[in-house]
Amino acid sequence: MYLPFKLFKFIFCTLLLINSILCIDPSKRYFHNSVIINAKLLILGGATNTTDYEFGLFYLDLSKPFDNYNLTWTLIEDKGLPVYTWRSTSVLTLDNSTIYLIGGFMINKNTLEYDYSNLVYTYDYSTSKWSTPVLDGDKVLPRQDIKGVIDNSGIIYIFGGFNATNLTSFYGKIYNDMKTLNTVSDTWTTLSISGNLPLPCDEYTADILPNGTIVYIGGVEQVSYGANFTLVNMNKIKLFDTYKHEWSQMNATGDEISSRLYFSSVLTPDGYIIIFGGISYSSGAINIVGVSPKLAALDTNKNPFVWTTKSEIKLFDTYKHEWSQMNATGDEISSRLYFSSVLTPDGYIIIFGGISYSSGAINIVGVSPKLAALDTNKNPFVWTTKSEVGAPPSIYGHTANLYNDYMIITFGRELDTNNFASQVYFYNIKSDRWVTTFSPHDDKPKPTRPTPSATTTSSPEKQKSLAIGLGIGIGALLLISCIFIAIFIVHRIRRSSIIETPGNIR
Ligand SMILES: *[C@@H]1O[C@H](CO)[C@@H](O)[C@H](O)[C@H]1NC(C)=O
Ligand SMILES: *[C@@H]1O[C@H](CO)[C@@H](O)[C@H](O)[C@H]1NC(C)=O
Ligand SMILES: *[C@@H]1O[C@H](CO)[C@@H](O)[C@H](O)[C@H]1NC(C)=O
Ligand SMILES: *[C@@H]1O[C@H](CO)[C@@H](O)[C@H](O)[C@H]1NC(C)=O
Ligand SMILES: *[C@@H]1O[C@H](CO)[C@@H](O)[C@H](O)[C@H]1NC(C)=O
Ligand SMILES: *[C@@H]1O[C@H](CO)[C@@H](O)[C@H](O)[C@H]1NC(C)=O
Ligand SMILES: *[C@@H]1O[C@H](CO)[C@@H](O)[C@H](O)[C@H]1NC(C)=O
Ligand SMILES: *[C@@H]1O[C@H](CO)[C@@H](O)[C@H](O)[C@H]1NC(C)=O
Ligand SMILES: *[C@@H]1O[C@H](CO)[C@@H](O)[C@H](O)[C@H]1NC(C)=O
Repeated sequence: MYLPFKLFKFIFCTLLLINSILCIDPSKRYFHNSVIINAKLLILGGATNTTDYEFGLFYLDLSKPFDNYNLTWTLIEDKGLPVYTWRSTSVLTLDNSTIYLIGGFMINKNTLEYDYSNLVYTYDYSTSKWSTPVLDGDKVLPRQDIKGVIDNSGIIYIFGGFNATNLTSFYGKIYNDMKTLNTVSDTWTTLSISGNLPLPCDEYTADILPNGTIVYIGGVEQVSYGANFTLVNMNKIKLFDTYKHEWSQMNATGDEISSRLYFSSVLTPDGYIIIFGGISYSSGAINIVGVSPKLAALDTNKNPFVWTTKSEIKLFDTYKHEWSQMNATGDEISSRLYFSSVLTPDGYIIIFGGISYSSGAINIVGVSPKLAALDTNKNPFVWTTKSEVGAPPSIYGHTANLYNDYMIITFGRELDTNNFASQVYFYNIKSDRWVTTFSPHDDKPKPTRPTPSATTTSSPEKQKSLAIGLGIGIGALLLISCIFIAIFIVHRIRRSSIIETPGNIR
């Protein structure tokens, strides 16, 4: 975040404090949970770094428009989490009254030691109160890397997951059982299911369709105890029928989507599951690599389901639901894979990086230019070479929530730099665009600016004028940039020592 804005926010928050609302600048994090209640995006837990534990419960108010460089987080005072938790799951009851926080790594608030004495905590939204429900039924053991979903009778379904048995090496085991938590009777049940059992699996995404079928995508599987973990093919969709308690599998078709873990998903009202981000690995979890495409949609209205890549150069008419292709003109842009792209509010698609190969994928070569912009306002589209980065990074361990036409991405960790990602990104699903301005009702892209990198340039400009308004000299700004650059370099140097990989996670 830029300093002038921090200063602005400090003043803004100080003013708010007088009205006893507590603004905070939360630590960046990953492996957290996020839930939307009453137009408030609440953030629960997450790993910040290895030594600092944060218990704060805070939210972003989605009832008003704002820019993603000007986020006002509000702390729910004295109502911090009862445990420090990450790689857990949180499920909101259907009446929007209670959050169930289930599993994950749990650290006791007082002793700061691992504490699995309670695996479920509930937060009552109207009274702002945490409780430890007394649960009947089957005994349940610690689980991490799970995703719970709730059906319309108030039953939470939790599939498989990981249990780290050695909390030094984080070695453990993954499971393929299906457990349910009935939020009406507060009872755990381990379903006895015969036939079609999936392989033990974790780090998947789960979404429940209106007909009660849960769709599990991606993650990692283990053929047998002690065997290596393998990434789940993204076309191999696991379906669980919550009425019949039956598993089935479906082979999705469509565009190729690389396998991934630690990604996010949202289900749109018209039956598309939109996934974003995540990581992949090669050579037995030793090399962490990015995913391609970062953003994709699974159409569950088709049988079998169909994957489509989004925000990339094929054209998809969201009104007619029709694909088309166009031959762009302009500068020559070499073919590439594993690159990133972003569509700016003023209609430029900016692509960055990637690799290319020759001789049947044997020689990996660089791409030229690294950064380019495709002007979608022209017909046909026109490529121009760009010299600035405007794309959201490759991130993992983030969360996604659906709110009106937006998929809201919170926090996460950047793959390329190993830094923690910016706090929030907005993807406007209807217009298939990443935007920097959130508006709860007006979902149209903001008025255009003539520069292609509007995403990145608009904020520093505003901040600069703000800085002058606040009386900060350009010299100070330069000095601060130097400090930031220095910090960035330090981060990069430390990269190899602080990266957390699926290999050392378990
Ligand atoms: C860890 O987080 C704290 C704040 O919670 C921050 O001050 C510190 O610099 C962070 N350390 C690293 C290595 O990121
Ligand atoms: C930041 O957001 C607050 C409220 O959300 C608003 O009052 C303020 O004008 C915004 N500041 C800038 C620089 O956009
Ligand atoms: C719960 O919140 C969602 C929006 O987040 C809303 O669509 C739904 O109607 C709410 N349910 C109740 C019972 O208030
Ligand atoms: C799960 O892990 C915990 C330690 O984190 C251990 O005490 C427990 O026995 C494990 N459960 C199983 C079934 O392995
Ligand atoms: C847990 O892992 C650590 C580090 O790899 C190892 O030294 C230790 O012996 C392991 N503990 C058990 C009980 O296996
Ligand atoms: C999915 O494809 C695999 C081969 O890749 C095949 O063995 C399996 O029967 C298919 N499943 C369905 C449900 O079509
Ligand atoms: C697991 O992966 C490693 C590294 O690729 C390999 O050496 C080893 O043989 C594999 N083990 C099994 C059981 O497949
Ligand atoms: C539920 O809907 C999905 C998507 O339309 C479909 O594939 C699935 O078969 C349905 N399940 C049942 C039990 O009808
Ligand atoms: C694009 O170019 C290819 C050949 O390079 C041609 O076959 C195709 O018809 C063109 N498509 C359009 C929409 O002009």
